[in-house]
Amino acid sequence: MIDPNRKITVHHIGDEHKELLYKLAEEHGTPLFIVDHQQIEKQYSEFTTRLPNVQAYYAVKANPDPEIIKTLFDAGASFDVSTMKEFNLVYENIKDMPEKERLDWIKNNIIVANTIKPIEMLEELDKYGPLLTFDNAEELKKIKAHAPHSGLILRIRVPNTGSLSELSSKFGADPSNAVNLITEAYVMGLTVEGLSFHVGSQCVNFENYIVALEMCSGILKEYYARTGQKMRILDIGGGFPVKYDNSVKSIRALAVLFNEELKRLFPPDILVIAEPGRFIVANACVLVSKVIGKAVRDGKTCYYINDGIYGTYSGLVFDHISYPILSFKESEETKLSSVFGPTCDAFDTLTLSAELPDLRIGDFVYTENIGAYSSASATLFNGCEPAKVLHINIDRRSID
Ligand SMILES: Cc1ncc(COP(=O)(O)O)c(C=O)c1O
Repeated sequence: MIDPNRKITVHHIGDEHKELLYKLAEEHGTPLFIVDHQQIEKQYSEFTTRLPNVQAYYAVKANPDPEIIKTLFDAGASFDVSTMKEFNLVYENIKDMPEKERLDWIKNNIIVANTIKPIEMLEELDKYGPLLTFDNAEELKKIKAHAPHSGLILRIRVPNTGSLSELSSKFGADPSNAVNLITEAYVMGLTVEGLSFHVGSQCVNFENYIVALEMCSGILKEYYARTGQKMRILDIGGGFPVKYDNSVKSIRALAVLFNEELKRLFPPDILVIAEPGRFIVANACVLVSKVIGKAVRDGKTCYYINDGIYGTYSGLVFDHISYPILSFKESEETKLSSVFGPTCDAFDTLTLSAELPDLRIGDFVYTENIGAYSSASATLFNGCEPAKVLHINIDRRSID
């Protein structure tokens, strides 16, 4: 868990921007989830510029808003999807392409990165033949029976040390069994086109990536030694960290490391792909909510706001992250306060240690860097409507 008391010193919105947020909240109502499409384009461009030899598949799970997908599609992104619903969100953008072009696009630009897929989904996907990941023999049997025309990527288990969201206990084949699994697939008449891994989301320990790359390189060498065959694709997954605070090293440093290691460990003709989610959307969204209640309990001021842990702040639970709640009011004098969400559940506690000026009912508060794994996992618990989404800096049509 990120320390809720930490000071956030990066990506703070400037005064001008703050004024705009305030106006938008006044105009559109709260809770308001503001998505800045220019920032999404900037993040995508930064990723692809820093890692010029890596094809970026946006991980739709981070934020599946169709407008975000459209912006990234227009920017030239590929997509990582986990379910048929996510697949269809991407498909919406290509549905009018001529058939051959559409099928080629799917093959070259969609990866189904959930290693466990229901049979019904495999049956639906088979006609498209996208890349599918797998990490066990039972899944291979399902794929052979229900989606034999897909290209396969074997996901291996790699260290997730220090990452915000740990994935290695649920996914990934034991690296020592990788070549056996690939061979098993070939015996079944399936094609394994490459290897993938995920170092855990918000990976701040870059050593995880280095170890994972070395593991993949070792497997590819062992596979070549045993079969004389090469693999075409290396999928370096997600995990690219967002600078929620200054302790997080920039993508620049990671990219330098990556570019060196990729050159050192892999043949130049291997296709390297990645599945960034958080990095693309986290700092492109701000949430503005309103104080709807105020009480003093045991001497401490408690604010109740109109979005909470069952809504856009769901990342507090599912993403293991603590979001600072900030005031628009300029005041030297602040008090240690608690902030709660709007539901009847005491679990709906956003923080017990926000430094806030004296707020009144009706005042707005905001949270930055809340674009990833936030609205994506919001619920409708207690009849609370999800925050209204407002798209800004989008040139396809006017705002809202
Ligand atoms: C298979 C897979 N790929 C990509 C991602 C995106 O990761 P991130 O948002 O850390 O970039 C995830 C996130 O859980 C994932 O499970």
